[in-house]
Amino acid sequence: MTGARLELAGLGKNFRGLRAVHDVSFTVPSGAIHALIGPNGAGKTTIFNMIAGVYRPDAGAVTFDGRVISGLRPDQVCAAGVGRTFQLVKPFKGLSVLENVTVGALHRHRDLGEARRNAEAILARLGLDDRRHRLAESLTLPDRKRLEVARALATEPKLLLLDEVMAGLRPTEVDVMVRFLRDLNARTGLTILLIEHVMRAVMALAAEVVVVSYGEKIAQGSPQEISRNQAVLDVYLGEEDAA
Ligand SMILES: Nc1ncnc2c1ncn2[C@@H]1O[C@H](COP(=O)(O)OP(=O)(O)OP(=O)(O)O)[C@@H](O)[C@H]1O
Ligand SMILES: [Mg+2]
Repeated sequence: MTGARLELAGLGKNFRGLRAVHDVSFTVPSGAIHALIGPNGAGKTTIFNMIAGVYRPDAGAVTFDGRVISGLRPDQVCAAGVGRTFQLVKPFKGLSVLENVTVGALHRHRDLGEARRNAEAILARLGLDDRRHRLAESLTLPDRKRLEVARALATEPKLLLLDEVMAGLRPTEVDVMVRFLRDLNARTGLTILLIEHVMRAVMALAAEVVVVSYGEKIAQGSPQEISRNQAVLDVYLGEEDAA
């Protein structure tokens, strides 16, 4: 299928009078990698939570492969083919790395052995196979980020939402993750939307970037266009002044 895999139309969300997201519209074509960027508190994670079914939008709709998914529960959105990672990584405590990913794989495979084999294959691709019997909470931050990606991939999504999976990684670790995601996208055609503050990763991966500030979309374009966009530069310079 060509055309939009994901379409956000006029999305809005308020939290007790705080306008967290207002009238945000954009599409992500099937097979593309797009990025969603913006200063802290701009509404990025709230947009993901509306796509993933955590929050029902107060306005607008989310369409996935031509079907409106806003209003569905998170498990229903996952079943439809949307995988997501959490900004604050939250592995199942007391479970091993392998067990954590197997839980994801059980969304698609009833057979435990089959789910485990799928989980092992994903862990191997992410370079986590030698740590698969460790407790998830004992992993370092970069490894916990990889585990988040592995858990999301185990649900065999058609669209992968990544919320700051490069945060806290060293530049060489960022490069490894960038290469992994680029290969995955090239090999499987998986559509990816990533929230990311690490510009090195955004520039390397995204065909198109959507910029939000105070809940509103302020720009959209190629990474090169975005890096020259005055409204975008103003927002980020303003953030530096405030820091
Ligand atoms: N559950 C909630 N209840 C109340 N306010 C919320 C809730 N979730 C988010 N907010 C507020 O909505 C706004 C947008 O938050 P959001 O987490 O979407 O921003 P973000 O762009 O992901 O920021 P960051 O880059 O820091 O992760 C913020 O002002 C935040 O405090
Ligand atoms: Mg966030």
